[in-house]
Amino acid sequence: MGIECAPLLAALHEVTFRGGEVWDATSFAALLSGQGTEATVALIGHDPAGFILSRTVLDETEILTLAVHPDFRCRGIGKSLVQHVLQKGKVFLEVAVCNKPAAVLYEKCGFVKAGLRRGYYRDGSDAQVLVSSNV
Ligand SMILES: CC(C)(COP(=O)(O)OP(=O)(O)OC[C@H]1O[C@@H](n2cnc3c(N)ncnc32)[C@H](O)[C@@H]1OP(=O)(O)O)[C@@H](O)C(=O)NCCC(=O)NCCS
Repeated sequence: MGIECAPLLAALHEVTFRGGEVWDATSFAALLSGQGTEATVALIGHDPAGFILSRTVLDETEILTLAVHPDFRCRGIGKSLVQHVLQKGKVFLEVAVCNKPAAVLYEKCGFVKAGLRRGYYRDGSDAQVLVSSNV
């Protein structure tokens, strides 16, 4: 999806990351206008259930964010979205060290630890850097 989906992504991000680092429609529009940035939205019927945002530069793709609406979790949507991006080749991402559900999901998708970014998030918490093992 293109820049027109920025408000939809912002709404899904808000409900998913409530109380955390929420990105607004302006931020999504700016990201989507950049080269190599791509959003994929998962639908359940006509309902947007989640999305993944990635950015590809040369042969490396970064997962910028992944969100599944709380009403649609544990149905394989997150895994499907990650597997979609994995088709691009080498993929990396940052995930909060305390984010157990995401850590399990990425491990099941074949990601391995590649490093630690201390104080990566606004609240001072650390991020684990993960890289795909499919290449
Ligand atoms: C993390 C998140 C994307 C998972 O989405 P989901 O659609 O519920 O995940 P899936 O149903 O595809 O689950 C994939 C695997 O992760 C595991 N998993 C998912 N949620 C889990 C949880 N709460 N606890 C433990 N494991 C979990 C499942 O065991 C599953 O493995 P399986 O397919 O072998 O059973 C979702 O919880 C979410 O949006 N969280 C908030 C936002 C976030 O943390 N995004 C990632 C930031 S990098």
